[in-house]
Amino acid sequence: MPRHRIFSGIQPTGEPHLGNYLGAIRQWVEQQEAPDRADALYAIVDYHALTIEIEPEQLAAWTLDMTASLLACGLDPQKVTLFRQSDVPEHAELGWIFSCVAALGDLQRMTQFKDKAEQNKDNINVGLFTYPVLQAADILLYKATQVPVGEDQVQHLELSREVARRFNRRFGETFPEPQPLLSKVARLRGLDGSAKMSKSKGNTVALGEAPETIRAKLKVAVTDPARLRRNDPGHPEVCNIFTLHGCFTGPRDPERLAAIERDCRSAALGCVDCKKELADRVVEQLTPIREAQAAWRARPDDLRDLLEVGRKKAAAIAEATMEEVRARIGVRGLAKRR
Ligand code: TRP
Repeated sequence: MPRHRIFSGIQPTGEPHLGNYLGAIRQWVEQQEAPDRADALYAIVDYHALTIEIEPEQLAAWTLDMTASLLACGLDPQKVTLFRQSDVPEHAELGWIFSCVAALGDLQRMTQFKDKAEQNKDNINVGLFTYPVLQAADILLYKATQVPVGEDQVQHLELSREVARRFNRRFGETFPEPQPLLSKVARLRGLDGSAKMSKSKGNTVALGEAPETIRAKLKVAVTDPARLRRNDPGHPEVCNIFTLHGCFTGPRDPERLAAIERDCRSAALGCVDCKKELADRVVEQLTPIREAQAAWRARPDDLRDLLEVGRKKAAAIAEATMEEVRARIGVRGLAKRR
């Protein structure tokens, strides 16, 4: 079997939050430490961020800031390729080609498009609709086989596989079918109990959030909705706070996690104390990230240099794939440009 290649992307639309961290970034960092690790590329997908209204200076600033955050989380540019999507224009080129391969009906089924169109009625641009086509281009440009993402991206990955199959059928075997690598984290809800953590809803904690803010946000976070009074027995399996304990307490102290579960069920542990304890763990584990983030933010030139190193590594692969694709589809390739 060919060696695996990993690709994933993150939008530079603000500081990453707990949902991004637990759903994706933490996995990226863990896999880079595996002894038999696969080749991995991670892109800051600024072309995707254009699907929302965003000022040019803001987009550039957030892209650099996302670089700082990813490095602060422990992503190591010696071990993985970290780059900016728009530094490799072949993403857009392959995106167009794939838009001539993808089926309209498949795109119309994308639930994320339907949700976003509902939320942004005043800016339903075509890019919002073809977003998953560009995502397929991101992945297949590197012939990636594994894509670590959150559960919300599974449908987009299905589309990527379908695009690969349709391209291969029409133009000959070129692309592998990429599989999602789902994080083991159970589905996280927003701190307000709503379906998803998102910065725009203000129901999450940013990675660089001040300790007092983290404590204040967790203090009022929604727990088990059936536990109305202090002495009611709790249901950890439906409690978002327990899920978070699973992420922040479990890996370091599995016995404590088991005790929290037991004491919640018996009502020996109340939600207020349980959340206070979680806040201690979160503050403790985000503090080094917050400090590293501040240190990277103070070195913008080094961030740019690192992105340039990543660009070179990514571009070498992307250019080779595109030469192959251009030849297969019958457009002019670089070799024939005379
Ligand atoms: N759509 C992804 C998200 O919003 C970001 C993304 C863009 C991505 N291109 C990708 C993820 C390619 C994985 C692979 O989270």
